[in-house]
Amino acid sequence: MKVGILTGGGDCPGLNPVIRGVVRTVCNAGGQVVGLLQGWRGAIQGITTELTIANTDDIIHKGGTILGSSRTNPYKKAEDVQQLLETYKTLGLDALVAIGGDDTLGVASRLYADHKLNTVGCPKTIDNDLSCTDVTFGFDTAINICIEAIDRLRTTAESHRRIIVVETMGRHAGWIACETGMAAAADYVLVPEVEVNLKQMCDVLLARRAAGKMYGIVVVSEGAVVTPEEGLVTTNAKIDEFGHVSLGGVGNLVAEIIEKKTGIETRCVVLGHLQRGGTPTAFDRVLGTRLGVGAGRLVLEKKFGRMIALQGTSIVDVALADATGKLKTLDPQFYRDSAEFFT
Ligand code: F6P
Repeated sequence: MKVGILTGGGDCPGLNPVIRGVVRTVCNAGGQVVGLLQGWRGAIQGITTELTIANTDDIIHKGGTILGSSRTNPYKKAEDVQQLLETYKTLGLDALVAIGGDDTLGVASRLYADHKLNTVGCPKTIDNDLSCTDVTFGFDTAINICIEAIDRLRTTAESHRRIIVVETMGRHAGWIACETGMAAAADYVLVPEVEVNLKQMCDVLLARRAAGKMYGIVVVSEGAVVTPEEGLVTTNAKIDEFGHVSLGGVGNLVAEIIEKKTGIETRCVVLGHLQRGGTPTAFDRVLGTRLGVGAGRLVLEKKFGRMIALQGTSIVDVALADATGKLKTLDPQFYRDSAEFFT
């Protein structure tokens, strides 16, 4: 059996453990694995690399993806889908494992539905916004990076009696901001799913100061809508091949508002791509490995059109069609629990 594997969309720590898991499982069963480079671009253009147990054994600790990634969408041009099908045939593939978020897995789901291509999906994203899986790998590493950053920012905020606004990624889901805020004891958190109440936030910050806490930490998710006039704050007008704008900059807006409304000196730190970089945590290495081994087994069992997933503590498989197209936004209970501390 010859299996292609690709990583698409924004990279994240944990991708290499998945690749290692798939390769080991397929090769142990006598199969062969080919890496398709730069996401769906590699699958269209046939840009490949051979993957073996030997050359993937030592990658578990590396962040990013040894296969490279891109936001290429084969469905943008009809000829690209045809080209991809040709490449699949020319390479003699029997199956294709796509590791990615909603966009990448949406393509895998469509290729299975439209062309009966033997796809298997594996969910990844620091945003933790994929349906049908409890957690995505990359998320744990990202929130640990955010927490470490806030622990450092806290000391300088305290020395200068400032408020520091920390902007996190997460697109339209507030998981990163909410869990970071909870774990780093932020004074306030703004997420896309909860209507922003600037007055209440400023009142909380002022009340804390009046009670003797002379600095503050506010976490804001890049997808939070702070004022109706500004709407979503974007870094540029560019739209990617899946129709997404590039979010970023809302933290600065929040910092300006806080300083104006409270009179407290305020700074903003945008954590940006730091959240996606570096070595994966133990949790993400273990989850990535389990999902990789699970995806390899799905291929060997010829269970196509499926996505490997984590539910509870078990690795299960679900239909790609069920897992894609609907984002898993922040569970309101998480925000309610966080908000106990926003007083
Ligand atoms: O989906 C992962 C993510 O990091 C989002 O949180 C963020 O909005 C986006 O990707 C950034 O994308 P890019 O790497 O293209 O700037």
